[in-house]
Amino acid sequence: MTDTSPTLRLEGVTRRYGRKVVLDGISHSFTKGLTLLTGPSGAGKSTLLRLIATAEKPTAGRLHWNGEPLPAARSALRRELGYAPQAVELPMELTAREFGLHMAALKGLRANEADAQFRLLLEGVGLAADANGRIATYSGGMRRRLIFAQALLGAPRLLALDEPTAELDSESRERIHALINRAAQSAIVIMTTHLSDGVAAAATAVLRVEAGALTPARAGLAA
Ligand SMILES: Nc1ncnc2c1ncn2[C@@H]1O[C@H](COP(=O)(O)OP(=O)(O)OP(=O)(O)O)[C@@H](O)[C@H]1O
Ligand SMILES: [Mg+2]
Repeated sequence: MTDTSPTLRLEGVTRRYGRKVVLDGISHSFTKGLTLLTGPSGAGKSTLLRLIATAEKPTAGRLHWNGEPLPAARSALRRELGYAPQAVELPMELTAREFGLHMAALKGLRANEADAQFRLLLEGVGLAADANGRIATYSGGMRRRLIFAQALLGAPRLLALDEPTAELDSESRERIHALINRAAQSAIVIMTTHLSDGVAAAATAVLRVEAGALTPARAGLAA
């Protein structure tokens, strides 16, 4: 790991599904700090985050991580990535703590270090008391907070957060905003949201995804 600020550059990134062009030749450089992605439902915000998280490949165009093009730099990007997808199937039979240890192992963290780190993260999102509860018993909001917590494991320098505060109460939302703002001091944090809520003020950039393009939007404009 280097001391220099992380950079993520998209160059002419296009994503099609069949004949449908969702993202049309997007070029943009993301730097350290919080970038919000807004835009109407179905515009391609989640698609863009999946490309950034390397869960999908662009149909055309390229990503560059710290100046190196993918796919060569894909594993380097993944080592520094935290990703909270909008919709994901959780292993219902595991406890939150077991799930955290599993995710930490995938990220290459050592078990004792991972346990301590995840305990702090669960505390941060208000799930400390439920750490040993099975995910099956979790409410929707608890599951969303758990998905967010695992994304922060390993102090990633690239965080892709897909509506991390959707349907959360204001207390949980504020907890998550605090963790996001802290992470954004050293990481590239790219977060989708439909809300012009508390984080907008702290954002270094607000971008709008619409009609296949990514354009600067003023903070405070709701989707
Ligand atoms: N795997 C897929 N196959 C086909 N079409 C897809 C696929 N994934 C997404 N799409 C389409 O791509 C478009 C963008 O979807 P996406 O989920 O990225 O939008 P979004 O901006 O995240 O919307 P929302 O705000 O509702 O979450 C939609 O028209 C969607 O139907
Ligand atoms: Mg989405």
